[in-house]
Parts: sequence; C-alpha cells; structure tokens
Amino acid sequence: MEKRCLVSVANLPKEKILNLIRMGQEFEKRPNRKLLDGRIVATLFFEPSTRTRLSFETAANRLGAKVIGFTDPKVTSSTKGETLKDTIMMVSNYADVIVMRHYLEGAAKYASEVSPVPVVNAGDGANQHPSQTLLDLYSINKTQGKLDDLHILLVGDLKYGRTVHSLIMAMRHFNPTFHFIAPEELSMPEELKAYCREQGIKYEEQTEFNEEVIAKADIIYMTRVQRERFTDLMEYERVKDVYILRAAMLRNAKPNMKILHPLPRVNEIAYDVDDDPHAYYFEQARNGLYAREAIICDVLGLTLEDVKA
Ligand code: CP
Repeated sequence: MEKRCLVSVANLPKEKILNLIRMGQEFEKRPNRKLLDGRIVATLFFEPSTRTRLSFETAANRLGAKVIGFTDPKVTSSTKGETLKDTIMMVSNYADVIVMRHYLEGAAKYASEVSPVPVVNAGDGANQHPSQTLLDLYSINKTQGKLDDLHILLVGDLKYGRTVHSLIMAMRHFNPTFHFIAPEELSMPEELKAYCREQGIKYEEQTEFNEEVIAKADIIYMTRVQRERFTDLMEYERVKDVYILRAAMLRNAKPNMKILHPLPRVNEIAYDVDDDPHAYYFEQARNGLYAREAIICDVLGLTLEDVKA
C-alpha cells in the first residue's frame, strides 16, 4: 500500500487541500471521534513547540489514539550519536504515524523516505510547516467564506519564516495577491519570488507597514522575527521590533479583515489588538486541532466519508 506522508504543501493538489478542509469542518462539529482506537501516534520534537505538538497530541487523543514521543532530543539516544534514520526506524517499530519537528531543512523529507510508516512534517528549519498552512487555509476559508481572490499581507520575517513559505505555495491554487512587507534583511527569498512568477501569483514588496496597505488587506499574516535562526545576534537586535501592529493602525481596515499569526508572538502584535474584532490568532490556533485531526486521519488512510459516518 502507498505510504501517505505530509512533508510539503508544494505538491498538494487543490482538491486534496479542499478535502482536508472539509474533514476539518467535520471535526469542528464533532471533535471527539474514536476513529483511531488502538493506533499509536509518535511526536518527535527536535525543536521547541507549544501549539503544534499539543494540538497534534490533542488531535490524536480526541481520535482515540495513544501518543508516545519526546519534546527534547537531549533525553534521547541522538545525544549518543544515533542517526535520524535509526531513530525513525526505531520509532516506526512502535508507532503507526510519526509527527516530527526538526531544525534541519529537508529532515522531514528524509524521514519520509526512510520511514516504513507515514511521516507528518511539523516544521523543518526555515523550509516548510505544512500542517500550519492547512490550519491557516482553514482559518482563512472560515473567516472569509472563500480562499479565492484575496489580498494577503505577509509581514515580518519573510526570509526565515517557514509558515509564510508554505502559505504562498498552498495559495497558488486560489489567485491571491500577496503584499510582502519586510525589512531588507528579512525580505522574501528570491527563490520564493521566482516561484510566484512561475505560478502566476501576484505580489508586491515594500518595507513600509502602514494604514494605507492595511486598508487593502483581507488577511494580515504577522510573523515573529525568529531569534533562533540568526547567526548574527546584532542583526537580530536591529530588526526584531521593526513592525509592531497596534489597534490604532486598524482604523481603515476592511470590516471583515482578519489578523493571523502562527504564534508565538513576541512584540509584533501589541496587546491592545487582542480585543479588536479583527484579531483572529487565538481562534486560528484552535482551528489547528481540527486541521490536525484531518491530517492524522488522512495519512492513516481514512477518507472524508469515514469521518462523516
Ligand atoms: N505555530 C507554531 O508552530 O507554534 P509552535 O512553535 O508553538 O508549535
């Protein structure tokens, strides 16, 4: 039987994305389903996480599966020199699906190639974060009533931000217009801009984040400047607070515009935005549970019909 993995959104067809959203909608209506009774989900987190790990583990528990794993590689035999391949081979002896976050770009693809069981990429370095993207699409669709023809502002760390890289790729099916807003040091990598041009995705670039551009937005996707990706901490200090979204900046925003953020935030969204009706980042994180229930079921071969039954 074909092994089903979720490593990248780059090759996800439109119908597959829409199907996962539909499955997520079913789980939002009924989150507690014993569809995976007797299954084991392994969560291997080589990097810190709050939302991704806990929502995957909650998803597994709500589906009736059991969870094994680690949150810190220092407590594993990787500290003794065990390779990623051997770790994956061992865990696949025990689990039916592996959810893995790793600091190396390409680690999830490698794991999916050597693993006998399905692998879900929970973030690999600055590369991809496909389950985040599915919950982002779920949230956009839920709040806008559609995915097509939207103006989306991507703000902050567009160089290292794997969530924005994945989002651009997934949105290729839906005719978006992106506004890339970043300081020059953290601008969108050339290969992603080339990808947009190849795919016919419209984009504009600017360094100013102001009311004028906010007024155009259906979605503002804020990102954190990721200290852990910088080799030069002086550079991090220079750019870390370059954009701070404050409630006063939302005066001319479209009424249904929503602010997303993969979280955690540091300084980039002021606390006065939390009470503004445009703020959606906490609900977005809750949607992660439904999206991840759908992803776990999908890689284990369950269909939308199974979920609806
Ligand atoms: N959005 C996200 O990946 O959050 P965590 O790092 O807390 O998992």
